[in-house]
Amino acid sequence: MGELETTHDSKISEFLIEQEDKSILRFLTCGSVDDGKSTLIGRLLYDTQLLYEDQLATLTRDSKIYGTAGDDIDFALLVDGLEAEREQGITIDVAYRFFSTQKRKFIVADAPGHEEYTRNMATGASTADLAIVLLDVRHGLRTQTKRHSYIASLLGIKNIILAVNKLDLVGFEESQFRRITEDFSQYTREFGFSSVQAIPISARYGDNVVTLSDQTTWYEGPSLLQALEAAHIVEAPVAAAFRFPVQYVCRSNADFRGLAGQVAGGKIRRGETVLVAKSGETSRIKDIVTKDGSLSEAFCGQAITIVLADELDVSRGDMLSSPEEPPCVADQFQAKIIWFDSAPLIPNRSYTMKTENDTVTASITHLKYGIDINTYTRRPARSLARNEVGICNLATQSMLAFDPYKENRSTGNFILIDRHSNATVGAGMIDFALRRSSNVKWQLLEVTKVARARLMGQQPVVMWFTGLSGSGKSTIANSLEKLLHAHGRHTIVLDGDNIRHGLCRDLGFTDGDRVENIRRVTEVSKLMSEAGLITIVSFISPFRSERQFARESFDAGEFIEIYIDTPIEECIRRDPKGLYKRALADEIPNFTGVSSVYEEPLDAEIRLSTKDQNPDVLSRQVFDYLQSKGYLK
Ligand code: ADX
Repeated sequence: MGELETTHDSKISEFLIEQEDKSILRFLTCGSVDDGKSTLIGRLLYDTQLLYEDQLATLTRDSKIYGTAGDDIDFALLVDGLEAEREQGITIDVAYRFFSTQKRKFIVADAPGHEEYTRNMATGASTADLAIVLLDVRHGLRTQTKRHSYIASLLGIKNIILAVNKLDLVGFEESQFRRITEDFSQYTREFGFSSVQAIPISARYGDNVVTLSDQTTWYEGPSLLQALEAAHIVEAPVAAAFRFPVQYVCRSNADFRGLAGQVAGGKIRRGETVLVAKSGETSRIKDIVTKDGSLSEAFCGQAITIVLADELDVSRGDMLSSPEEPPCVADQFQAKIIWFDSAPLIPNRSYTMKTENDTVTASITHLKYGIDINTYTRRPARSLARNEVGICNLATQSMLAFDPYKENRSTGNFILIDRHSNATVGAGMIDFALRRSSNVKWQLLEVTKVARARLMGQQPVVMWFTGLSGSGKSTIANSLEKLLHAHGRHTIVLDGDNIRHGLCRDLGFTDGDRVENIRRVTEVSKLMSEAGLITIVSFISPFRSERQFARESFDAGEFIEIYIDTPIEECIRRDPKGLYKRALADEIPNFTGVSSVYEEPLDAEIRLSTKDQNPDVLSRQVFDYLQSKGYLK
């Protein structure tokens, strides 16, 4: 090989090393839809791609001459990051774009959509180092700009580039730019941003995007790209407390039991002692296994499998930590919630809550207040609409291991999922565990439900009647109880109208009140079941979500849903309490079937059509069902 070849070879490897060593900056763009986001991203990608391709063209040419796979370099380098992002798990509807300059690699979380933007932004932002807040110089700070800036701060983004766009439309006038940057710093004063770099740009013509513009001689700062290249990246917190959320338990053979996951904070060495968050037990790290073999230590961000010296009870959802700095373990906590769904958040409804490594059922027990985005002040709130932010208390059905979000972004964040549509409806950032969570324990009772029921010679079961007002629920429920009673069974009827005179006297008929109504009745049914009774529940219970919650509160087979299927026309014709007449005359708001929804059951065990049927015949059918399924043995 001649001297020339060696030079080129080393150039290529130099380039490769340079690429590997380059830091990656993750950022997202936010702002009002028509403030020029796509133009800006397009401009940035296009201009830098040209730069980059220049560089690559040389490399490719060299590579071709000297037989190195030049074309692959670019691809591999850029795709690396993508795979890593995808493995993060909760990615939805966010496109990640890549570009690279001589100084740095960039990943832009591009969250499309108008209304849904907040949801996509929250997803994209969970790993972002920086946000570009883009606005139109002519419009200044709009509600959406404010909202996105606030959400960026909630998500823990510290670095902001305020890109003041469309300067060309105001003759590149400095005063206009200054006015907006001043407004922005006023608005975000308490957001905890560590740097805000304001840049006057024209995305359309490229002024101050990649290169500095001679239209803004009064501006002395960097171009947008220069600012992106120079932005400070918060390194993975190696010094932070060790956190290892367990994703799954891996048993490849009888002797091997490893805990797989990704280090979410700090570092760990073989031989060190770790604490299992939920049980409080400790053990030593026997081995750290990866697909490339055993390691003596592992750092934040690494995907590893940990083998402990002892056989402890650890499963998915648990967390290993340093014994000196344990995470919180609680089932009640305060969090900030960003709501995404077009249907509002309803306190007391149960949602599926997903953390990095755990899935539990959770509900908002108290919505303390909402945040007014325009003034950044608290406002009283009974619900949250799409894109609103609120401070809430939550309760989960089982213990959760977590950290406050401000201490650890990956162990302190979660999403909420609607249990029927499976849509992601909200994102949350945990503030702190509620003390009551650890102050209230379960008391062990020695006489069990089975024992109580056995004394009565029966098996407890909940018969849950649902249907419109006037459909005949209460009449059939009453008839069924008489039948059971006559057969020597111990029963109780919980009836909507009656319970609303006492336990639920404080509740009306808004969606939120109905959700709470059914939650309470579910709890009472549980107690009745514990007492060994056959419980007959007769409530409109119009929402599938709450009926499912009720069902899931019981063991399989202990809950029987009975849909009293009477068409609304028939209920209106019967109108036993004269309520339909008034509801149709607009005298009663939120009336089920008229001005409030009734969601028909999809999988009720029993469906009774009441038209031209005698209630006693129908209750007999239910009785026969119980008998044939062995409930009355
Ligand atoms: S639920 O929707 O929360 O399950 P529930 O069964 O407790 O309702 O109470 C329904 C009863 O309240 C009806 O049978 C009716 O007599 C009365 N009622 C009064 N206002 C309304 C209303 N807006 N919608 C439905 N029922 C109402």
